Amino acid sequence: MLRALDGEVVWPPPIWLMRQAGRYLPEYRALRASAADFLTLVTTPELAAEVTLQPLRRFGFDAAILFSDILILPWALGHGLAFREGEGPVLPKLRDAAGVAALDPARLPGAIAPVLETVRRVRAGIAAEGHDAALIGFAGGPFTVACYMVEGGGSKDFAATRRMAYAEPALFAALMERLTEATIAYLSAQAEAGADVLMLFDSWAGVLSPSLFARHVIAPTQRIVRALKGSGTRIIGFPRLAGAMLGPYAPETGVDAVGMDTATDPLWARGAVPRGVTLQGNLDPIALLAGGEALRTEISSILAAMRGRPFVFNLGHGILPETPLEHVEALVECVRAS
Ligand code: CP3
Repeated sequence: MLRALDGEVVWPPPIWLMRQAGRYLPEYRALRASAADFLTLVTTPELAAEVTLQPLRRFGFDAAILFSDILILPWALGHGLAFREGEGPVLPKLRDAAGVAALDPARLPGAIAPVLETVRRVRAGIAAEGHDAALIGFAGGPFTVACYMVEGGGSKDFAATRRMAYAEPALFAALMERLTEATIAYLSAQAEAGADVLMLFDSWAGVLSPSLFARHVIAPTQRIVRALKGSGTRIIGFPRLAGAMLGPYAPETGVDAVGMDTATDPLWARGAVPRGVTLQGNLDPIALLAGGEALRTEISSILAAMRGRPFVFNLGHGILPETPLEHVEALVECVRAS
């Protein structure tokens, strides 16, 4: 995994899956049932470390991703957060300067302490159990985190957030500034605790116009990458649904790798993204759900497009809870045999 992120062609390519620690695993569901709620699970290092290691034990993936959530950062800054069953995350709606001023960076070190303890425990667990796997820490892209804070949860188009970016640019810039600074502190702390790789999930980057994409995705990511250079980690950027903006995103931000979403043509990305930037992706999670011949065909076409290129095999978005375990086993076998 680390050699592939450092620009080497490693074949068969390393594999891990976005959301690999989660609800499709029976051992996850059992552990989840023992915790009061999702936030308790994330902030109890013993449980979060166990969940992080589960997919390595079952599938032998080449990387573990810290079990946490992108919304832990606003929570750590004092913004409210609840995960309601079947509803997704619910947050207070941030709509004014008082909301931005209430975000308190002084709360961060104390609030993220359990997450950092999880990173240390996973690090030790990987070694103790003898897995040959990298450890990925992560944060949300500041824009995507701002989306959930402004809307108060998920949304189909994040219209209130985009409207704020256009109509109240100073307010939105102040929010982005706080989030970018906090993201740097949070990711630096994860690197120091033992994460080899850091991933920025900018899941809603693709709702922005090109000019706002440059301002609220490329610029903050570039700042984060610059601040983390020298931390000894590699950085994967995932500006989901960025389309052709993936071209400028890769060289301008300075990330070591970019994640391709499901809709990205890997052959196009191979031409549009400089060779020095590793590509990661991008099997459709629905193809993994469907399985069978269609799954093998999709995997083969991604591998054919990526052969000879520094590459990490992954999904184009998170694994779905209904995914059969045998399909994941078939995926690993298929990629390893290439
Ligand atoms: O990838 C992993 O295995 C690591 C853990 C991880 C989670 N969330 C665990 C989680 C990661 C990397 C995330 C990132 C995340 N969280 C993103 C960016 C990636 C993406 O999917 O676009 C976003 C937008 C969120 C916000 C979030 N968290 C939503 C919208 C939801 C509810 C929807 C859902 O899938 O349930 C969550 C909850 C959440 N985060 C769960 C998990 C395992 C489900 C909670 C449960 O177990 O009940």
